[in-house]
Amino acid sequence: MTTPLSESVEPSGPVPCEPSGSVPFEPKIVGFLCNWCSYAGADKAGAAQIPYPPNVHVVRVMCSGRVDPQFVLQAYRLGADGVLILACHTGDCHYKEGNYRAIQRHRLLLQVLKQFGIDEGRCRLDFVAASEGEKYARVLTEMVDSVRSLGPLNLDAAVAESKTPTVKS
Ligand code: FES
Repeated sequence: MTTPLSESVEPSGPVPCEPSGSVPFEPKIVGFLCNWCSYAGADKAGAAQIPYPPNVHVVRVMCSGRVDPQFVLQAYRLGADGVLILACHTGDCHYKEGNYRAIQRHRLLLQVLKQFGIDEGRCRLDFVAASEGEKYARVLTEMVDSVRSLGPLNLDAAVAESKTPTVKS
C-alpha cells in the first residue's frame, strides 16, 4: 500500500453533487485476498463480467493467515473506512491452518476495534473459493453497502473519544 487511499478511490469523471453541494460518501475499503481462492474468485467475477463496486483496493496475500492485525490497523490509519479479509473455505487452506489463524485474529481484531468504538461492520472476514465469482461480487457489494450506511471512519476522533474519561454516577 504505497498510494494514499484518498487519492485512488475518487470516482473518475463528473462527480454528482448532493443538493447541499457536498460530494456523496463513497467508502474506501481495503481487501486482503488470499491468492489461491479469493483472488481467483475475483478473477472469475471479472471474467464472467459480474458487476461489483469499485471501492475495494485489493491487496493480494498468499494466505489469509498472513494478514497481521497490524496490516488492518494500518489500513484504517491510511484512510480506509473498512477492511475485508477473504480466505479459502475452512479445510481448503493451502497452508492447512492459515484461515483458522485468520478466524482467531479476526475475533481479536473485533475486540480491539470495539475498544475504540469502531463498529465491527468495518472489518469483515469471509470465505470465497476460486469458483465463487458471484459470491465474491455479493460479499463486496454487501461490505460496501454496510460501510456506506456507517459513514466515514474518523479514526482520530474515534480514538480520542475512546480515551475520554467517562464519569460514572
Ligand atoms: Fe487461502 Fe490459506 S491459502 S486462506
